[in-house]
Amino acid sequence: MKLAAARAAVEAVESGMILGLGSGSTAEQAIRVIGERLANGTLKNVRGVPTSRQSAALAKIHNVPLVSLDDVRAIDLDVDGADEIDPELRLIKGGGGALLYEKIVAQASERVIIIADDSKLSPKLGTKYFVPVETVSIARAPVERFLQTLGAEAALRRRSDGSLFLTDEGNVLLDATFGEIDDPERLASELKAKSGVVEHGLFLEEADVAIVADVSGARELTRGG
Ligand code: A5P
Repeated sequence: MKLAAARAAVEAVESGMILGLGSGSTAEQAIRVIGERLANGTLKNVRGVPTSRQSAALAKIHNVPLVSLDDVRAIDLDVDGADEIDPELRLIKGGGGALLYEKIVAQASERVIIIADDSKLSPKLGTKYFVPVETVSIARAPVERFLQTLGAEAALRRRSDGSLFLTDEGNVLLDATFGEIDDPERLASELKAKSGVVEHGLFLEEADVAIVADVSGARELTRGG
C-alpha cells in the first residue's frame, strides 16, 4: 500500500524538478521509486532536498542527487508521509522525529503531496496519534509542565535501548497525547508561542493533496474531500 501511494505520487514528478524528500517508511518508497526512474531514464535532472539524515542516506543509496535549501530558490514538489490525516488534510507528523526539517521543506515547497496507507485517515486529529513537540533540552521540564496544563500527557521520547532520542538538530522530543483535538489551529499557536518549543507535529496548512492507498489501490484526497 505504501509503495502504491509512493508510485502514484511519483507520477507527478517531472524531469528538472527540485524535490522535497520526506522521511519515514512511506516516503522511503518514494525515494526508491524516484531512484528507479532516474536509473531507467524516465526522469532526468531531478535533485532532492532531504528532510532528515535518514532520507539523505537513502537518497545516496538510490542515486538521487541532493541539494541544500541554500542552493535552490524553491522546491517544486515535496513528497512526504504522515502519522494522521483529517478530512481537511490537516496532519500530525513527526513519528520518525524529523518534524522540524519536514516542516521547513514543506513550507519551502510549491506543492506538497502526502502519501500514506488508509490507516492514517482520521475523523479528528489526536484520535490516533500523539503530537510530537521538539524542544530544546534545557526546556524539557517547563515544556512538559506546559503540555500538561494544555491537557496532554507528555512522554520524553527514548530509543528502544532506553537512550534519549535526539533529533537531527540535537533536540529532545516530548510526545504529547491530547486525545481528540477540538481546535488544532489554537493548539498549534499555543505550542509555537511557548519558549523552548522548537517545532510541533501539527501540519495544518502544508498539504495540498494526500494520496492514500488501501488494498484496492491509491486514491487522491484534496482539502474538504
Ligand atoms: C517522520 O518524522 C514522520 O513525519 C513520517 O513522515 C511519518 O511518521 C510517517 O511515517 P511512516 O510513513 O513510516 O508511517
